[in-house]
Amino acid sequence: MAYVDVEKAIKILSQDGIVALPTETVYGLAGSIMSKTAIENIFLTKKRPSFDPLIVHVHSIEQAINYALDWPEIATEICKKFWPGPLTIVVKKNEKVSSVITAGQDTVALRMPNHDLFLTVLKKLNFPLAAPSANFFGKTSPTSAEHVISEFAGKIPVLDGGACKVGIESTIISISEDSIQLLRHGMITKSELKNFTGIDVIDCTKKSKTAGSLENHYQPKTELILIESNLSFNDLKDSYQNHKKATELVIGDNPELAARNLYGKLREIDKHQYDYIYFPLREFHKQENWSAILDRVKKASHFTFCSENGENILKSKNPNA
Ligand code: TXA
Ligand code: MG
Repeated sequence: MAYVDVEKAIKILSQDGIVALPTETVYGLAGSIMSKTAIENIFLTKKRPSFDPLIVHVHSIEQAINYALDWPEIATEICKKFWPGPLTIVVKKNEKVSSVITAGQDTVALRMPNHDLFLTVLKKLNFPLAAPSANFFGKTSPTSAEHVISEFAGKIPVLDGGACKVGIESTIISISEDSIQLLRHGMITKSELKNFTGIDVIDCTKKSKTAGSLENHYQPKTELILIESNLSFNDLKDSYQNHKKATELVIGDNPELAARNLYGKLREIDKHQYDYIYFPLREFHKQENWSAILDRVKKASHFTFCSENGENILKSKNPNA
């Protein structure tokens, strides 16, 4: 049952079921937006709190417009440029979208994924698919079919579409007539959006209250320690845990490849018995094309090793920890 083909996926989705589908960003746990049972099952399977809204996936701009109350003109321009692709837009929803999907908000997040199999499935159905990342709430997202199988112990059917090419979740923006707000970092950057639209893009990623914006997210089981760029692994070992078994999170210096490999690396490390993972922050990580990757790495981390008042300290991200 674990692996299914396109026909079977369509059948399951037409009968109130849920299936993990490949996208270019991460695998999604998909269900019909018209099926109360499927939507409830998505939340239950992921152990996802009801306050965290789902993204609605569509096969075209026309289909997206069907679910919006207001569709700003600029939204069409943006979607023509970036869809299918790793960009989700938030607009006012109409009554066709249940408030369970949007966690009670009057807006809906819409995205046309850039994956042939997902689009083939969508085009054969006469409803869009809600699909959060196919992982337990707060944990590392899946970027291959095997990741989904291991996450849910083979209990969720998966359509195998290979390894995800982008590797981290879509950029999310909220669009109104005269402004664009960035709600979640992704590989489509703020500058790209600003250059294309000519409109200022306001960074609201710190203010946004939805779950992707929680401080702890995407977390591996093994503790992840970020090392500030003025310090080294040796400093960490010296002043901290000399005897512990550690491994470095190596994602290289190319942001596209780093994004593609990030979650797979974290999952791979979790299979071994390390006491902790360390990730040395570098000056080049401050460049904008690293913003989404750094956002994920920071949320996935448990501690930062840094200097304060001339002393090297391990700072917990969670003040209650
Ligand atoms: O790349 C992606 O976006 C992947 C693939 C599967 O498409 N999906 C994904 O979904 O990352 P998920 O559920 O892991 O993250 C969805 C996030 C929510 O946590 C929330 O931050 C935001 O989308 N969101 C959804 N609806 C929203 C709304 N109406 N207003 C603001 N944010 C919303
Ligand atoms: Mg997620």
